Amino acid sequence: MQHNDTLQIIRPDDWHLHVRSGEALKSVIGMTATQMGRAIIMPNLMPPVSNAAQAKQYYQEIVNALPAESSFTPLMVLYLTDNTMTEQIQAAVDGGLVVAAKLYPAGATINSDSGVTDIANIYPALEKMQQLGMPLLIHGEVTDVAIDIFDREAVFIERILTQVVKDFPELKIVFEHITTKDAVDFVLSASENIAATITPHHLLANRNDMLVGGIKPHYFCLPILKRENPHQQALLSAATSGNAKFFLGTDSAPHAKNDKESSCGCAGILSAHCAIELYASAFESQNALDKLEGFASIFGADFYGLPHNKETITLKKQDWIVPDSYPFANTTVVPFMAGKTLGWKLVP
Ligand code: NCD
Ligand code: ZN
Repeated sequence: MQHNDTLQIIRPDDWHLHVRSGEALKSVIGMTATQMGRAIIMPNLMPPVSNAAQAKQYYQEIVNALPAESSFTPLMVLYLTDNTMTEQIQAAVDGGLVVAAKLYPAGATINSDSGVTDIANIYPALEKMQQLGMPLLIHGEVTDVAIDIFDREAVFIERILTQVVKDFPELKIVFEHITTKDAVDFVLSASENIAATITPHHLLANRNDMLVGGIKPHYFCLPILKRENPHQQALLSAATSGNAKFFLGTDSAPHAKNDKESSCGCAGILSAHCAIELYASAFESQNALDKLEGFASIFGADFYGLPHNKETITLKKQDWIVPDSYPFANTTVVPFMAGKTLGWKLVP
């Protein structure tokens, strides 16, 4: 519902989130808990969350770190490895906390060393997931050193994803944090059980923001920001189209300031501090604020077969300046849009 300067929507969910562990977790979990009803918690810890027992332990750590009286629910994810057994998939589903499993091609991104070296190695696991209706969440980039970093998503579609979809026609798949027109087109032409998440930074930024006028490490993430035209444009169109195949997933991925402002800076952007405000800005830029609720609060839940949240949130049209940094364990993290003015603010 939109009146002049307020916007009320069903409380959103974040279908792709990194919250880390230990003190770092305590620093950032409140940001998401304030905004979101639930979040899909990415399992790329060291060591990865690769069985039901580890998922339960991580779930408990997150719940313990929540602010008092928070009703936020973490949705746990299993990290697929070359050795994931069908029994582990079954045990994860039986445990009740794990709702999906994640494919990281080995070496594709932060803490993906234990990831899958050959898709054939997880075919038994995928067969089991298809049978159980458990979604496969995919980091869709090839790791072949011969492939240019800007092409890795498109080549993944061509070399891997097209075949997986053929071999497992009933498997539910979320193509995570899509960044290219190629990915948008693939999802649009695929069957109903193929969906995608889109991050706020891929909607609001492109590679010029990262590279023109000096290299900006706080814009560096994986998959890397692409060209405005056609890629950022295609993402904006898809997100604001009202098509239920596209939904909110921030990929908020905090790293300490020093780990990013470095000669070998980490990939990952913190957006949890104002996720819904960022999406509101992106949707407003397309004159599509009426499409925000579906994208943020309905389509993801429907895809995962979960109920919609009962509460609502309210956003107010109000300029505010994003802080330069936030505390992060014993150091700081620089958030997305640090020092910039945003035009929407969540009403507490
Ligand atoms: C993520 C992280 O830091 O965990 N980084 C990122 O750039 N998105 C890993 C990931 O999702 O690829
Ligand atoms: Zn991620």
